[in-house]
Amino acid sequence: MNIPSHVAIIMDGNGRWAQEKGLPRYAGHREGVKTLKKIIKKAGEMKIPCLTVYAFSTENWRRPRKEVDFLMKLFKETLKNESQELASKNVRVNIIGRRNGLSKSLINAIEYIEKITRDKNGMELNIAFNYGGRAEIVDSVKKVVQDVNQGLALDELDENNFSKYLYNPRWPEVELLIRTGGEMRISNYMLWQLAYAELYFIDKCWPDFNGEDLEKAIKVFQQRDRRFGGLPEVGDDKNA
Ligand code: IPE
Ligand code: IPE
Ligand code: MG
Repeated sequence: MNIPSHVAIIMDGNGRWAQEKGLPRYAGHREGVKTLKKIIKKAGEMKIPCLTVYAFSTENWRRPRKEVDFLMKLFKETLKNESQELASKNVRVNIIGRRNGLSKSLINAIEYIEKITRDKNGMELNIAFNYGGRAEIVDSVKKVVQDVNQGLALDELDENNFSKYLYNPRWPEVELLIRTGGEMRISNYMLWQLAYAELYFIDKCWPDFNGEDLEKAIKVFQQRDRRFGGLPEVGDDKNA
């Protein structure tokens, strides 16, 4: 079957999940980490080559200080707790996003997980943290300008080699985007990589998302007619 090579997920709805249960928002974020662990396992079993999840956006700094601090702490704890397990499962982990603004101890945890999983060749897991799609494009342009200053001819720049300047140049295309929590927007996620992605929205909040929901999203993806600007796939030369 046609398994999407790169699946991206906007893990949304943690706060609402908690509020519906009369719990504080942070309880939803904690539950969200449990869901993420299950979905990483399921994605591995389904042989999805690359999974990119949105954990904290460049816009999420607008939240109350207490929530931001909690998310920073939760992310650091999760990286520390899961590093060995992910390495033993042969998962290569990259944290994509801007490092400035993050604490030294969080940067250490990020560098550690990236270092111990760098030579793994199972699934590739990108965690987008302090990530913004526009920030990524601007950061990529800055790298291009540096190369131009070093002698790269501007005429040589095209879409193909521009994508080599992205945060994870090995996976420049997303095939399937899943967003939980019912909102139908991109929220500054993977703007370059989503150009031709199939979009899948589900009302369930992220803590309730499960392996079966992932399977269902992939089934829907497999039924989509992806045209990339061309014509629908039909037999013979009906399109001639
Ligand atoms: C997604 O859940 C997690 C982060 C953005 C960090 P939210 O915290 O956005 O939950 P809702 O959308 O408010 O329910
Ligand atoms: C997107 O969710 C970011 C993450 C899931 C990390 P948000 O909850 O921040 O998105 P908006 O504000 O509803 O667009
Ligand atoms: Mg949200």
